[in-house]
Amino acid sequence: MGVAVPILTREEVRAFYDRFGSKQDTQEFYQDPTTTDLIRHARFEDACAVFEFGCGTGRFAARLLAHHLPPHCRYLGVDISSTMVRLARQRLSPWCDRAEVHLCDGSTRLDNADSSYDRFVSNYVLDLLSESDIHSLLNEAHRLLREDGLLCLASLTRGETFLSSFVSWSWQCIHSVRPKILGGCRPIELRKFLPAEKWQVGYRNVVKKFGITSEVLVALALAGLDQKSAKVSG
Ligand SMILES: C[S@@+](CC[C@H](N)C(=O)[O-])C[C@H]1O[C@@H](n2cnc3c(N)ncnc32)[C@H](O)[C@@H]1O
Repeated sequence: MGVAVPILTREEVRAFYDRFGSKQDTQEFYQDPTTTDLIRHARFEDACAVFEFGCGTGRFAARLLAHHLPPHCRYLGVDISSTMVRLARQRLSPWCDRAEVHLCDGSTRLDNADSSYDRFVSNYVLDLLSESDIHSLLNEAHRLLREDGLLCLASLTRGETFLSSFVSWSWQCIHSVRPKILGGCRPIELRKFLPAEKWQVGYRNVVKKFGITSEVLVALALAGLDQKSAKVSG
């Protein structure tokens, strides 16, 4: 029998990130090389509508809006933490005509319309959700994305070299006893959550920085059999 992974409740996550706030930006030393790789492979230049789950302080969104998204592209970020939402709104105020940030209840069931976005982004958030929440969020990502839409993810993952596997092992040990110290995040493998009948993985990479290992993944949302048959019969 596998050992149960401790997952923070939504209340604990909210309380942690409400306190952590702008300190989240200190994680840029390992997150920025990863998200730079994501940006290189997710064709944000062609995007019309971007959704971000767990937008934090809005740092990634500001980078996209300042340098990568076309001027007509809309952005919506959601986060469970009111501190993060306040910080992200401040940061994104120069783009307030097309960028919005909403406070959400942390549910992985989203109330946005089907096929309303062409990029679904979530950086360093899936690694703090339970496996069932990850599956449920990715089902929602599939529903929100247009047929040719791209899922754009970055997450902590297990290291493969001597140093990085030691860092992930230590991280996992701390997480298994005190997940709150790490904001609930633990190394996961994103690819195993993407069934081949729904997602075509176009790009996957592992980025190591200072012994911390991250996975970058860009996947195309494939039309489901139900949608295809609806199109044929409609
Ligand atoms: C590790 S931080 C990453 C923030 C940002 N994506 C980044 O890369 O800097 C995790 C973020 O996800 C948010 N979060 C965690 N669980 C969430 C949930 N169930 N729904 C919405 N936001 C969530 C937290 O409040 C926090 O802002």
